[in-house]
Amino acid sequence: MANVTFSSPVMARDVTVYAVAGDRGTLLGLAKANHIPLPHDCQDGECGSCLVEVRHLARHVRSGVAMTEKEKELLRQLGKITKEEIMDAEVNDMPPKHRLACQCFVRNEDIFVSFEGDTTLPARGTGLSIAAGVYKGGVPVRTMDEFLNYAVQVEQDAAEHFEQLAEAMKACGNADVETLFRQLGGYSRLHLAEAKAKCTRHDVNLTLPPSSSWPDNTSPEKTTLWAGDPLLSRLGALKVALQGERRGFEFYYAIAHTTTDAEIRSVAREFVREETEHVEKLKQWIEQEEAALRMTKEQATA
Ligand code: FES
Repeated sequence: MANVTFSSPVMARDVTVYAVAGDRGTLLGLAKANHIPLPHDCQDGECGSCLVEVRHLARHVRSGVAMTEKEKELLRQLGKITKEEIMDAEVNDMPPKHRLACQCFVRNEDIFVSFEGDTTLPARGTGLSIAAGVYKGGVPVRTMDEFLNYAVQVEQDAAEHFEQLAEAMKACGNADVETLFRQLGGYSRLHLAEAKAKCTRHDVNLTLPPSSSWPDNTSPEKTTLWAGDPLLSRLGALKVALQGERRGFEFYYAIAHTTTDAEIRSVAREFVREETEHVEKLKQWIEQEEAALRMTKEQATA
């Protein structure tokens, strides 16, 4: 039995798992089996995404270090291993500091494994609603075609939804919020154009999924709030928009974290980053709006 402790800034805490002696799995296999978010793509020693730092806890114990040629070559290219370290590993059984988790077999010794993780993605799921889980189970995404078709549908629905909300505001004479929804609709049209550009890049045919394929029969960025209220404030409108963007973020986040297809994962991550920016931007606008409202109130009571 060996204790393998995984540590990363993208994990809320270190996690120690037990590897069974004689089980010839790789570090990456152990991480995956225990839901450790260790980045990986090729799983074949070619991309370097599974780079880890390994600390051997029983320093006095030395056993042969087996490194594949692929691993040595890639670590060398990444500047993570020197000729001397390779020599030490092969001749003196001194393990190098860095390894590729997909090439490194777990042995009967306690080790501490640290990795950076994908720091461009949100670290944890706090703030995620149950929608992330719903989409994980509710929308089957097996191919890039399917994924990008869903993505275009999400962005198109968001654009149309904001435009409908703007019309509703116009009909009830709330010009301020109408302007805001038109602005948000314009941004959604830009995101739609970006999603369609990705389709062209990935040679995907557009056949948008029917509403019935979504949980609740509606795509994520459509909100369930009714915004035809003539008294809807700018703040209320921004909160409506934030709800939609959050659900869009959750949809892409769930795909990025559950797909087994490296290419889909990579494109889903691009969307996650974009949606994160939209969510952050809306949060900033909400803060500014709340600050402005507070100031108006204070001035009124002064
Ligand atoms: S996953 Fe690509 S090198 Fe390990």
